[in-house]
Amino acid sequence: MWTTTTIDDLRTRRRALTGTVAFVPTMGALHAGHVSLIHAAKQLADHVLVSVYVNPTQFGPSEDLTKYPRTLKEDMELCEAAGAAGVFRPGDQVMYPQQIACEVNVPQLVTMLEGEHRPGHFAGVCRVVAKLFNMVQPDVACFGRKDFQQLKVIEAMTRDLAMPIRIVGCPTLRDPDGMAMSSRNRYLTPDTRKRGLGLFKALSEARAMVEEQGETDPAAVEGVMHTVLASHKVAIDYTVIRHPQTLAAIDCIEPALTGGVVALVAGRVDDVRLIDNMILAER
Ligand code: PAF
Repeated sequence: MWTTTTIDDLRTRRRALTGTVAFVPTMGALHAGHVSLIHAAKQLADHVLVSVYVNPTQFGPSEDLTKYPRTLKEDMELCEAAGAAGVFRPGDQVMYPQQIACEVNVPQLVTMLEGEHRPGHFAGVCRVVAKLFNMVQPDVACFGRKDFQQLKVIEAMTRDLAMPIRIVGCPTLRDPDGMAMSSRNRYLTPDTRKRGLGLFKALSEARAMVEEQGETDPAAVEGVMHTVLASHKVAIDYTVIRHPQTLAAIDCIEPALTGGVVALVAGRVDDVRLIDNMILAER
């Protein structure tokens, strides 16, 4: 497996690859969820390229950019063991060598939910992902469904800008207790982890209400998710039921919604922010 830090070298190596390329963009601190993305990518193309870059433009001023875990050596070992052909790990000077001149915006999707609680976050995500796509030139790119709204934003961006890249959403990996895997879980203590499990419990309650008890009122399900999170002492940002494509609010969880609905939750345990989601009533 090769690694490179420059765009010129990446392009030379990319051109030398015959066949198709699947891309897994990451911010490092890799865990089994990322490994599963690389494995999924391997099924979709002849070669897998991974990027490791902690993108400063998607962090707000009071967020965890400086303490974001950086575990490059272990990341490289995981990428190699998972079968990546190469890793692009640029520095800030490579990604942002001059003042930013261009915005990529997906207005319908970026001001709600994560966008409301993390203003500017998706502008940073779109900027870096568009740049990485231009640098790597993949045929297909894999993203975790754990960041559900991010996946929808990137799908919309590639569709709208006619980028010739297939976007594939991959399942969220969970620990045996149900906790969604995330690089930020490293910040959790045994106590905050127990409280953070409230997100999975809230989503599981929502699933039981909709799929077993036949509840069709989104407000009722949202209320129960709120209660579960509050009982776990999570400082709640949102507990919502939304349309799984548009992320718009819905009036009723109707059987006609063949893609089901998505339940999304977010909140903080002490200073650790956690998000999770689940598709409910998919037919
Ligand atoms: O999901 C992430 O890890 C990041 O948001 C991404 C897509 C690598 C962009 O920095």
